[in-house]
Amino acid sequence: MGVALIDRFRDRLPVDERTPVVSLGEGGTPLIRAPRLSEQHGVELWLKLESANPTGSFKDRGMTVAVSKAVENGARAVICASTGNTAASTAAYAARAGIPAVVLQPAGAVALGKLAQARAVGALVLEVRGSFDAALAAARELGARGTYVLVNSVNPNRIEGQKTIAFEIEEDLGAAPDAIVLPYGGGGNTRALVRGFSELGSMPRLLPAQAANRAETVASAIRITDPAHAAEVDEAVGLSDGRVLTVSDDEILRAWGELARAEGIFCEPSSAAGLAAIAHADLPRGAVVVCVVTGHGLKDPAIATAHAGPTIAVDPDPDAIEEAVR
Ligand code: F0G
Repeated sequence: MGVALIDRFRDRLPVDERTPVVSLGEGGTPLIRAPRLSEQHGVELWLKLESANPTGSFKDRGMTVAVSKAVENGARAVICASTGNTAASTAAYAARAGIPAVVLQPAGAVALGKLAQARAVGALVLEVRGSFDAALAAARELGARGTYVLVNSVNPNRIEGQKTIAFEIEEDLGAAPDAIVLPYGGGGNTRALVRGFSELGSMPRLLPAQAANRAETVASAIRITDPAHAAEVDEAVGLSDGRVLTVSDDEILRAWGELARAEGIFCEPSSAAGLAAIAHADLPRGAVVVCVVTGHGLKDPAIATAHAGPTIAVDPDPDAIEEAVR
């Protein structure tokens, strides 16, 4: 019922009574069974719909903590580099806090919905002539100069907030699942899952899925060549008896279509990388698997336009409509 994530998990987050809670009612996202895909893959598959967060992606969990702490510490503005979702989340929480946000995005490489979100809530959107990785380097430098608080996931408060996904999954299933599949871009979300399940004392196999061609993948959210958390991700997957899996764009798009048509879940392409990776994961039959659906399909309408079925124009005439349906 729109309870602030910080208030629900207060005792496990780096906040106290002086922290101003900047919230949009994030977290508490649905964990739903995926019966058709379970049968298809021979596992008990659950979908954690992080796309149901206020700005439509998992980023809001970490952002509520990062922006709240920034305000507590007297920040006058926040900055991030982003492939789009971090930007949309930064922009929304900054608006909520009443402070300016500057977001750096790789020019021409951000999905339409994300770009619209950041602009609509009043962020200053700078389209950087360069990659996400180049934009992140600039944002880090600007953060270090002290004018802005950097709210990318290299800010530890982001990981702290994001770890609450583990608490919710365990609470809903009654135990940790056998495995978790999720997209791997910079690795912040994988790191957060490790932190969350470590605190719970029960570690599922972590199976982050990266795009085969990181620099040019159709999944623009994870178009990152130099993952900021690579070392920690490698260590963490080893610790959890998991591994990093690699999926092609064709596999991502196939999984994207399956989530939509078999289960009714419309996500952005990167969010289907986890499902695509199940085929490579050698999971035992019947294993309980959670697939983290990281971002909403409305973020990236161009993908649906290019890869979903066509529409048909008709006159408002019942006979013509019956004819068209046939
Ligand atoms: N899924 C979506 C929808 C994302 O937006 C991202 C990252 C990831 C997965 C990968 O998560 O980086 O924690 O491994 N998006 C960042 C952004 C890079 O700027 O919005 P990760």
